[in-house]
Amino acid sequence: MAKDIEKQIERLREEIRGHDYLYYVLNQPKISDRQYDKLFAELRKLEEANPQFITGDSPTQRVSERPLEGFTNVRHAVPMLSMDNTYNADELRAFDERVTKQLGSKEYDYVVELKIDGVAISLLYEDGILVTAATRGDGEVGDDVTANVRTIKAVPLTLLGRDTIPAVLEVRGEVYMPTSAFIELNKLRAEAGEPAFANPRNAAAGSLKLLDSRITAARNLSFFAYATGEISEPLADNHYRTLQRFQRLGLPVNPDIQRAKDINEVIDICFSWSEKRLKLGYLIDGMVIKINRFEQREILGATGRAPRWCISYKFAAEQAETIVESIDVQVGKSGILTPVANLTPVQLSGTTVKRASLHNFDELNRLGVRCGDTVVIEKAGEIIPQVVEVKKELRPAGTKPFKAPQKCPNCGSAVAKDEDGVYIRCLNPGCLGQLKERLKYFAGRGQMDIEHLGTALIEQLTETGMVKNFADLYKLQKSELAGLERMAEKSAGNVIDAIEASKTRPLWRFITALGIRHIGGQSAQILAEHFGSLDALMNAREEELGSIDQIGPTMAESVYEYFRNPANRTVIDQLLAAGLRPQQPKARLRQKGKLAGKTIVVTGTLENFTRQQIEQAIRQAGAKASSSVSKKTDFVLAGENPGSKLDKARELGIEVIDEKQFLQLIE
Ligand code: IVH
Repeated sequence: MAKDIEKQIERLREEIRGHDYLYYVLNQPKISDRQYDKLFAELRKLEEANPQFITGDSPTQRVSERPLEGFTNVRHAVPMLSMDNTYNADELRAFDERVTKQLGSKEYDYVVELKIDGVAISLLYEDGILVTAATRGDGEVGDDVTANVRTIKAVPLTLLGRDTIPAVLEVRGEVYMPTSAFIELNKLRAEAGEPAFANPRNAAAGSLKLLDSRITAARNLSFFAYATGEISEPLADNHYRTLQRFQRLGLPVNPDIQRAKDINEVIDICFSWSEKRLKLGYLIDGMVIKINRFEQREILGATGRAPRWCISYKFAAEQAETIVESIDVQVGKSGILTPVANLTPVQLSGTTVKRASLHNFDELNRLGVRCGDTVVIEKAGEIIPQVVEVKKELRPAGTKPFKAPQKCPNCGSAVAKDEDGVYIRCLNPGCLGQLKERLKYFAGRGQMDIEHLGTALIEQLTETGMVKNFADLYKLQKSELAGLERMAEKSAGNVIDAIEASKTRPLWRFITALGIRHIGGQSAQILAEHFGSLDALMNAREEELGSIDQIGPTMAESVYEYFRNPANRTVIDQLLAAGLRPQQPKARLRQKGKLAGKTIVVTGTLENFTRQQIEQAIRQAGAKASSSVSKKTDFVLAGENPGSKLDKARELGIEVIDEKQFLQLIE
């Protein structure tokens, strides 16, 4: 019986891995997302009922529940070098001439690839299982980011056995953030008052360096493999065939890789991408040109920092000139006034640009932008249009500097500049402009996710005075809504149903939705997990808030102040009275077994488990993995080179066990 279940679990895993391969590697899914989710749910259910069969390489085990304490170092067996750059055809030809000279003939071919603008990653597979993922670091030593990389669905946790797999296979490639994910992430961050990432590369790098891999998992990163590092036996004698083998092993390879027989073909391919690249869905900052045959790469060798067998070709940043027709000042949900330039529409990197944020009045003054100015715009990371320069010599006569408003453009109340900040804010808590933005955010997808409650309806609800705060949404009656202009009976019903459905959103979403300054989705998740209930969070002392990992003093103060404000308390009371039940989902734990309910601290390196795996094993045993030793600790599990935690355990007289004993206890 148990054997049957185990077999069934393995069959489901194989099936899911097969669909991952079709989706991520071949780009040819055979089933719908829904069918996929069903298979996944089936596997998860079976595993939950039979936790003894859960293994680290199961598709369900990508995300670790426990935050890391920090990143350890990984020394690269083969250094991760950088690349020399070229910027035009002449420089590419000069590179080709150097190659011809060194190889002593023209008998060689190239592979031309997109230069993905992300973060270089090394993936170490041992016997086909992903054991370590590391960043490039300084080329010699990088950071161990295994827990975070495991959450990237395009990265296989096990290689597919379609081919013989070398015992040691280090795969190198690029982790990147697709443009759509980047835009979405920055939108959420802006709404939460968190600084935006400048470009998808920074966003990808930042996401890999998070201590909590559940947050990384939500970042929608992806991956392309493009090289090998350390390897017990070569996969092929040239690069192109190596990439083909990668594919058969289940590793995603960029579909736009081309072979070129000489430098003229290389140049044609490079030029052909200067426009096409804008339609890719992810950013590339150039092309990479590589000698195909490994034997010839050997002859060419490397200088200290870069190989002589490859070179990059970089695209110039695209810019456009246009005119600032007017400058609007927008009010955000926390009262921030943002100047936005309305531009004469202009084409830039494939889209028409009509508006550009000037961010704040300090930035506006630094640029010296005036209405009527001719400005140079550029897309930051080719996505968000930015004003980078004012052509002062083209300024028409009679223009005046744009002054920051003395009053809120929306409600006419007083404004003030943040102490030691750049933002100017409307100080009126009752400002209708702010209320609209707060409600839009509250109802937004990452927060309470209230379908059908869009901008137009929010405008109507606030302007008629029907909604003055979040709680008023839950008091709305269908008949009242149906009385609004352009609102049919059926749509009114849909709105009411959607509002009703939002009552059971999890705690972290509710905390995010409140729009507490400096608290976005990520920090809300940390708070929800720490406190477990809204009540505990509302009554938390400032010191406790500040002592939480990743909650800085500014956030702690902001949360504390928010819940001390009687107006906020009243609205929350009304929300609860209306039936909102924001709750922290409870992790399901094994109820029986020798370790159930125990608290275990791990120190040192273990033979059979990575840090993530051991924490998972502890959780599956129904126990809790904790990071520091205290009187509440039941066991300390000590591996090789244990740290000060072992001393502490001895000091407190806590039982110390080794890996073997642990394995016996979980049997
Ligand atoms: S091959 C010796 N192929 O570009 C370097 N790198 O500027 C061998 N990159 O650190 C790397 N796309 O992060 C290679 N198709 C591609 C690439 C690529 C992006 C990055 C990589 C590297 C950087 C060098």
